[in-house]
Amino acid sequence: MEVHGKSSQDSHPEVGQVLITRQQISRRVEVLAAEIAEYYRGMELTVVAVLTGSLVFLADLIRRLPLKMRINAISASSYPGKSTDSQMLELSLPAEFDLAGRNVLLLDDILDSGQTIAAVMNELAGHGPASLRSCVLLRKLRPDISGRIKPDYVGFDVPHKFVVGYGLDYDNFYRNLPDICVLRESSRSAERGSP
Ligand code: IMP
Ligand code: MG
Repeated sequence: MEVHGKSSQDSHPEVGQVLITRQQISRRVEVLAAEIAEYYRGMELTVVAVLTGSLVFLADLIRRLPLKMRINAISASSYPGKSTDSQMLELSLPAEFDLAGRNVLLLDDILDSGQTIAAVMNELAGHGPASLRSCVLLRKLRPDISGRIKPDYVGFDVPHKFVVGYGLDYDNFYRNLPDICVLRESSRSAERGSP
């Protein structure tokens, strides 16, 4: 999809085909927001966003939720640097993090192995929320992983490929691409081949 003659892959040799266009994302976020708004109607919501990947999704989603809400951001990193495989997970929470008695919606960019969301949900549950639900923009199709956590809201199911754009990164690049694109296999295999 092109806007002003530029598609997301233009001038980015590492970035391959567009998987989900900005228009498809926008339409899906609208539908997700309607479902979430309906579920939490009349309640106060606390959104906990996992940085940095969910930043763009967060910005688009919350502006479509006509609810009284608080927003908290936490960080969880499972892919430091250029690695695209699961690594040790580090969680970091704000010093003032009061979720007791609140209706909490956890927001993340993508569910891959499920390790991140499972760890974050576990942490949040320990803060005594009144309710705890989860929402991911993308869920990777991973038949190799059983017993993976089931988010309450999912934007799109995507193939088991590494994707970038709309907040998702590779080595902290490409978060600003408006479409969700596949990272070229050659970028990843080149990196695996290096020491
Ligand atoms: P999980 O713990 O294996 O489910 O991985 C989830 C986290 O890894 C996400 O929050 C992302 O930050 C990152 N991640 C997983 N797959 C991708 C991808 O295809 N592109 C970019 N980041 C990814
Ligand atoms: Mg993440």
